[in-house]
Amino acid sequence: MEKLTVRDADVAGKRVLLRVDFNVPIEDGKVKDDSRIRASIPTIRYLLEQNAVVILMSHLGRPNGKVVESARLRAVAERLSGLLRSRVPVTGDALGIGTSDAIGRLKPGQILMLENLRFHGAEEANDPDFAKTLASYGEVYVNDAFGTAHRAHASTVGVPALLPAYAGLLMEREIRNLSQLLEAPKRPFAAVIGGAKVSTKIAVLEHLMTKVDTFLIGGGMANTFLVAKGMTVGKSLLEKDRVADAARVLAAAEDQGVSFLLPSDVVVAKEVTRGAEHKIVPAHKIPNSWSVVDIGPLTRQAFAEALEPARTVFWNGPLGVFEVPTFGDGTRAMARDLARRAEAGTTVVVGGGDSVAALEELHLTSKMTHISTGGGASLEFLEGRELPGIAVLQHRPVPPRAAKRKPASKAKAKAPAVR
Ligand code: 3PG
Repeated sequence: MEKLTVRDADVAGKRVLLRVDFNVPIEDGKVKDDSRIRASIPTIRYLLEQNAVVILMSHLGRPNGKVVESARLRAVAERLSGLLRSRVPVTGDALGIGTSDAIGRLKPGQILMLENLRFHGAEEANDPDFAKTLASYGEVYVNDAFGTAHRAHASTVGVPALLPAYAGLLMEREIRNLSQLLEAPKRPFAAVIGGAKVSTKIAVLEHLMTKVDTFLIGGGMANTFLVAKGMTVGKSLLEKDRVADAARVLAAAEDQGVSFLLPSDVVVAKEVTRGAEHKIVPAHKIPNSWSVVDIGPLTRQAFAEALEPARTVFWNGPLGVFEVPTFGDGTRAMARDLARRAEAGTTVVVGGGDSVAALEELHLTSKMTHISTGGGASLEFLEGRELPGIAVLQHRPVPPRAAKRKPASKAKAKAPAVR
């Protein structure tokens, strides 16, 4: 169902509450990765150019309803001010007379950020009074926080139920690119799924099963599949209680003719630490006291060959312990390979913090068709779930289909259109 976007809203001179996901990593008081902030700049600029009063709302971290100094949005506002080349003030609190006064003083074309919404437990509890107060600050609501769309919180579902609610330009882009994967992917469609835990990926594997032609599986989660196929994985990460789920996924792939590639060789290490002794072994010969830390060179090659015909690729999750540089070869090779394919015209969509971090390290993000700003949200979307923060936004009315309209008479139906 298509959503109305900020372009459909009448925002000139109006107070617009813009929910953004500025939940970004902060180190030593500075924003370490500003990609989520950059991703919402088009919506912010659009609103300012339309002469709206822009009131930004975001959370940062999980302060659990208490004021946590390190979770204040000051560093975020500084970074945003730099990007906009204009100062963005932050209120001392999301609530209170000082905040409503500051909002009241704003003129069209001006912007302000509310302090971290999660300093109030009422945000995550979707408290109706809290939502009402936030809604009273604005006349129009816009949601650009795709990364938080899977949370039913006051700022994502409570407020938009009280105001005319539109999707921001980032939200629109996320919905369009991710829906395309589910509804009309150019075939063949391959999904590269990695990461540590299979438990977080079973639902997405099952939903994508009916959409993709090929799965390429790496990372810690591949171990559970190897065990489901009767292999042993030494000291590696393994979710024993998920072996039956993995076996079910393997059987479904076979039933539906989806090719399901697991590592045929792996890098194993004595310890999962920098500088640890490591070697390459076949996946069916993982020694007892060693741990799988990456896919091996034969697997890298097999994965590259399997991706050769693909016209659409979705990638989520690293293929090894990527944060230890020696064990990141598989992940980096995948990042380079996908960048090359995207440049050659393959649609490549990437979601999930770690795979995006690999692309960033190699300066390859700009090559991709779409990089989702949502980790959990993009997975839930691709599981086929309706995200509450999206469901609540206004639908675009479907025009009555011309074919369904009954012509008054044959002669009229044939008459040329009057312009
Ligand atoms: C995220 O980073 O996934 C979103 O900002 C949501 O954060 P949360 O998992 O703390 O709700």
